[in-house]
Amino acid sequence: MKAIVFTEFGSSVVLKEAEVPTPSAEAGEVLIRITHASVNPVDWKIREGFLKSMFPHRFPVIPGWDASGVVFAVGEGVTSFQPGDEVFAYARLPEVHSGTYAQFIALPTSAVSHKPKTLSPAAAAGVPTVALTAYQVVHHVAKVRAKERVLITGGAGGVGSYAIQLVNILDGITTATTSQKNSAYVAELGAKHVVDYEQSSARRELEVAAPGGFDVIIDTVGGDALIEATQVLKPGGRIVSIVETPKNGTFHFVYPSAQELSAIADLFDAGSLRVPETTIRSVREAASAQDESRTRRVRGKVVLAIDLDQAP
Ligand SMILES: NC(=O)c1ccc[n+]([C@@H]2O[C@H](COP(=O)([O-])OP(=O)(O)OC[C@H]3O[C@@H](n4cnc5c(N)ncnc54)[C@H](OP(=O)(O)O)[C@@H]3O)[C@@H](O)[C@H]2O)c1
Repeated sequence: MKAIVFTEFGSSVVLKEAEVPTPSAEAGEVLIRITHASVNPVDWKIREGFLKSMFPHRFPVIPGWDASGVVFAVGEGVTSFQPGDEVFAYARLPEVHSGTYAQFIALPTSAVSHKPKTLSPAAAAGVPTVALTAYQVVHHVAKVRAKERVLITGGAGGVGSYAIQLVNILDGITTATTSQKNSAYVAELGAKHVVDYEQSSARRELEVAAPGGFDVIIDTVGGDALIEATQVLKPGGRIVSIVETPKNGTFHFVYPSAQELSAIADLFDAGSLRVPETTIRSVREAASAQDESRTRRVRGKVVLAIDLDQAP
């Protein structure tokens, strides 16, 4: 099959198109013909070697942890999927080697869910990593409850856009930070209060949004944004970051879960969730798409169509 690979850590110039062995579905796995992948900041972080102490890596590495596509074959013992099923997956495997910027991937069924019926394959590809992260943080780590005041940093990003929606579903009161250019967009996603972090009045606006401080902070930005958010946490409030370990708070790293992905699919099909703004590019533009992600200013999601001519 064809894939985008890299054989050494480095800038986006290390990404190359290559012919690699097509995987097969082993027992308990499905082989997915991928139609779309999506770009996440973790893709360029892995390419630059930032996660090499966290996970074993084996070159050549195919980047990408998000996939949507069609089941091509199933391994022994698989009864929940059959060839032709439309699926999506958070495709992180124990070893960083086989990713989703490729024509096929074999995954354990524990990572794969049927695609939401109401989403196109392209839109669905942008969902798994960011929606699962937000879902796990909101439900299992921060354990947001109704009427709690929740500050979400990075409201225009992939994870932030789902955190806003998932907190709203629980009847929490959302405040999200973003730059001025994305303020209307973030309000449209459902944030009750939108604070432009570039304004000198930002701190005061946050204090007005949550007199006495926020019950919960969900940080998707890190650095100064996390430090500033911590200053408006109420005494005894909970703070969770997906970027770094906060002082007196929790760092969360997303884990694959077919069950949670399927719950997210149900939320889409019930009309309770919507996809953030999605831009579709060819996987052959992976290098520029990763460079764009690296600016940290992408709004919504960038999806890569896997169109490396024809499949084997
Ligand atoms: N631990 C995990 O499991 C996990 C999972 C997913 C992602 N992550 C990490 O979480 C971070 C966010 O991921 P993502 O996919 O949501 O990223 P993303 O979609 O690339 O986020 C980009 C957004 O961040 C906003 N932003 C940048 N600086 C900001 C600031 N100072 N304050 C508020 N908003 C700011 C930008 O909006 P403006 O242009 O309006 O500023 C932009 O829309 C990344 O570092 C990623 O690696 C971790």
